[in-house]
Amino acid sequence: MGTREVPEGRVFSDLLAEDRLFDPPASFREQANISDGGARAAAASDPEAFWAGLAGELEWDRPWDRVLEWETPYAKWFVGGKLNASVNCVDRHARTRRRNQAAIIWEGELGDRRTLTYWDLYREVNKFASALKSLGVEKGDRVAIYLPMIPELAIGMLACARIGAIHSVVFGGFSAEALRDRINDAQAKVLITADGGYRRGQIVPLKHDADYALRETPCIEHVVIVRRGDFPIRIHEGRDHWWHRLVDDVEAKCEPESMDAEDILYTLYTSGTTGKPKGIIHTTGGYLTGVCATTKWIFDLKDTDVYWCTADIGWVTGHSYIVYGPLAAGATVVMYEGAPDWPERDRFWQIVEDYGVTVFYTAPTAIRAFMKWGAEYPARHDLSSLRLLGTVGEPINPEAWMWYYEHIGKQRCPIVDTWWQTETGMILISTLPGVDRMKPSYAGHPFPGIEADILDDQGKPIEGQGGGGYLAITKPWPAMLRGIWGDPERYQQQYWTKWDHDAYFTSDGAKQDSDGYFCLLGRVDDVLNVSGHRISTMEVESALVDHASVAEAAVVGVKHEVRGEVPGAFVTLRQGHSPGPALETDLKQHVVNKIGAIARPHQVIFAGELPKTRSGKIMRRLLRDIAAGRVLGDTTTLADSSVVEQLKKQYEEGGQEE
Ligand code: PRX
Repeated sequence: MGTREVPEGRVFSDLLAEDRLFDPPASFREQANISDGGARAAAASDPEAFWAGLAGELEWDRPWDRVLEWETPYAKWFVGGKLNASVNCVDRHARTRRRNQAAIIWEGELGDRRTLTYWDLYREVNKFASALKSLGVEKGDRVAIYLPMIPELAIGMLACARIGAIHSVVFGGFSAEALRDRINDAQAKVLITADGGYRRGQIVPLKHDADYALRETPCIEHVVIVRRGDFPIRIHEGRDHWWHRLVDDVEAKCEPESMDAEDILYTLYTSGTTGKPKGIIHTTGGYLTGVCATTKWIFDLKDTDVYWCTADIGWVTGHSYIVYGPLAAGATVVMYEGAPDWPERDRFWQIVEDYGVTVFYTAPTAIRAFMKWGAEYPARHDLSSLRLLGTVGEPINPEAWMWYYEHIGKQRCPIVDTWWQTETGMILISTLPGVDRMKPSYAGHPFPGIEADILDDQGKPIEGQGGGGYLAITKPWPAMLRGIWGDPERYQQQYWTKWDHDAYFTSDGAKQDSDGYFCLLGRVDDVLNVSGHRISTMEVESALVDHASVAEAAVVGVKHEVRGEVPGAFVTLRQGHSPGPALETDLKQHVVNKIGAIARPHQVIFAGELPKTRSGKIMRRLLRDIAAGRVLGDTTTLADSSVVEQLKKQYEEGGQEE
């Protein structure tokens, strides 16, 4: 890998001008939790009072003394307040008539079902919290969780929250090496995993993969294993424990730890511009306030709703909008273990019909896949229970928006296009479905109390309609990240040094229309958005260079019809290795082993040499042009301009496509 150049030429290309506007139906507006825009003005004039009002909807052991302390770049919200997240998500509902309401309705890929009422969830969380204590887990300890989408994932997180342990969920699709690195970075004491899970009818051997990671994670003292399928696994005596046995031997009740509002609730790793994932830190009081409020206001949740977010809990969407937000709001949440096309391409619509899902939240990549499969799949099912649709993870193209609106929402359901990030913790930009008109591909206004702007390189607001720039958040918000685990410098550097003045740098490009609606234009850094998931080009490059045959690698984002973007790789080989389809397959697999299937390069191009500037920097801009089939940009700064012509020819002749 060479040194990095500033990415250019991939962001500010404007999308099509969009002038279609859709009103939320009057019947929706009439019943909406929020149906007038007055909250925006009120929140803007006194944001602290606004957030304090929302925090007051939670249950606190001790009220806060001050709403906000802000010393760039560190915010403290609800200073002096004490509360417990599991009490807010479970106990307080289990004490009311909600105790018999379904908290989680789970469906396994095999078609097996489990329903946990709030009372059931209360019992399970208590027992598992006691079990964690019996293993010596204490307040502040880190617990890694590597599970399929089964209820124990939510129970495990809430049990950690109950005793004040910090959970670090690692997406079940990540490789053993990725798991190992995350465990070691967090210095986790306990790992919670399962014997396996199901994905498209195949068994995902989680414990088997975890065993590889565990060879090099000396910090782990205990491993808890959920029995999902009776899959054969190896048990390491003394270290490994079955979940179901542990909970049998402990107290059924576990007193919740009264946590400071600013105590850490969890860390979650995400990709940045370097090869090293960063552990994003979220704390308790502000985070819970932000996710609970946005759930109620943006998803309009009510006791009668059946809410389904299709994300995996391994990503932030699942943390905030499957577990903490909806449960804090007392919702009924559907959780599904498997793939959307298993056993057939109508599985999601079957689930919507079977459970009477009313609010449905998914990603553009999924919508594009549904479009490709065809409208006959949703048409087979009764989707009349749906009343609100959501999307998240990447910009949604107008065609996909219209398809979603017509074929899933049947032109009855408002769509909320919600912009946010692992770092922001909560949705920051979205329409309010009972208030705002919808405009395909425009996320809408900042949530009340949030201030966002579009800035140029100098930090000046971009004047005038349609001009593209960097999206910046200009005031602290309650669910904002509080840092990067073990790396305060990187925190400062990454988010707070882009401009001279106080503003959070999102790494996204955006433009605004005359109504003040924001349209998100994609990342401006070396982070790819593959199916709504963040992958750093540097991580993929590091994985490739780790292979014995590779001398140098450069990875760029290539547009993909369904997945949005996929990694395209250019590699040069070490002496004695020759290019060919077998090596290409091997390299792709190597990336899968190092990171996970999500990072698999779509194409690998073997290059005699990579295009570099005279100072030795790899010109990723040119590689992006080649990969996109564009006319090559300026090549005058290249050390050897014949290199790109050669690569372009090779690319056009075609590498081995996935
Ligand atoms: O580029 C933006 C894109 O996803 C990035 C954040 O990724 P992650 O931290 O993995 O969180 C994804 C789920 C919150 C952002 O920097 N993104 C997210 N939502 C949208 C979006 N881009 C456009 N429109 C959205 N609604």
